[in-house]
Amino acid sequence: MSHRPTQRPAVSLTTLAEKKALGEPIVMVTAYDFPSAQVAEEAGVDVVLVGDSGAMTVLGYPSTVPVKTEELLMLSQAVRRGLQTPLMVGDMPFGSYEASNEEAIRNAQRFIKEAGCDAVKVERGGTTVERAAALVGAGIPVMGHVGLTPQTATALGGYRSQGRTAERALNVLHDALALQDAGCFAVVFEAIPSALTEAIMPRMEIPVIGIGAGGATDGQVLVFHDLLGIYSGHAARFVKRYANVRDEMISGVKEFADEVRARRYPQEEHGYTMAPDEIARLHELLREQTGEPFTGGLSL
Ligand code: KIV
Repeated sequence: MSHRPTQRPAVSLTTLAEKKALGEPIVMVTAYDFPSAQVAEEAGVDVVLVGDSGAMTVLGYPSTVPVKTEELLMLSQAVRRGLQTPLMVGDMPFGSYEASNEEAIRNAQRFIKEAGCDAVKVERGGTTVERAAALVGAGIPVMGHVGLTPQTATALGGYRSQGRTAERALNVLHDALALQDAGCFAVVFEAIPSALTEAIMPRMEIPVIGIGAGGATDGQVLVFHDLLGIYSGHAARFVKRYANVRDEMISGVKEFADEVRARRYPQEEHGYTMAPDEIARLHELLREQTGEPFTGGLSL
C-alpha cells in the first residue's frame, strides 16, 4: 500500500536556491536502495544523496575508501527507481575524480547517464576545486563537501571534527568559498564548530547543508541508517536517532524463526487452496500412476 503524498513538483537546483532565499530549511537524507528511496520520497525530503557512506552502511566496508564507482552506480540505479521528486545526488567515490579533470568528467557522466543522478558530490577543497569547476564547465551540477571529509580522514587525523583552531577554521572557510566560486550549487559542511559555520554563512551565496555543523546552515543531512537506527556501528556526536529500526528488524526475524521452529508459521491463511474436485482428480491420477492409493497430505 502506498502512502505517497500528493504529487509535489520535482526539486531542482532553482528550488534549493529559492529555499535558501526564503530561509526555508532544506532536508537531505542518504538512500542506497529502492526501499530507502521510496521512504525518502514518501517522507517528502528535498534532496537524496546516494552517499559513499553506503560503503559502510550497506556494503560492509570498514570505511568509504574502498568502494568502487560500479558499486555506487548500482546503488544509485536502485535509488533512481524509487525516487521521483527529490533532487538526487550521486557521491563520487575516492579515486574517481582526483587524478585529472578528464577522469572526473568521465566518471561523473556515468552517474548522470547510467544512474540518472541529477548532480554529483565531491569532497575537499584543494585540487577538488579545479575538478568541481571542470565538472560544472561540462554541464554537471556539483555539490561540494568541506570540513570532515571521510574519504581523506586519515590525512585529517581520523574521523574528528575539523576547523577547531583559528588557522584551521580559515582553511575550511577558504575551501567553502573556493567551491562556491568554482560553481558548486551547494556545499556540505561536516563536523565543524557551530561558531565557524556562523562565521562562514554570511559569505555563502549557495545553499549550505550541515551535518554536525550547528543550526546556522540552510539545511541538514543525516545518513539514513544513522537516523533510523539501522546501522550498529559507532555513531558520531551529531547523529540523532529518530527510530530504532534495527532492533525492530532483529525482533521480527527472531519471531519468524521462533514461529517456524514451533511450527506456528505458516497457518492455513498463509497457504493457497485447490478446488476439492481438482484434489480428488489429483488423487486419482496419482493412484493410476503408482497403482497404490494416495496417502499424501492433500485432503479433501
Ligand atoms: O556519504 C555520505 O553519506 C555523505 C553525507 C554524510 C553528507 O557524504
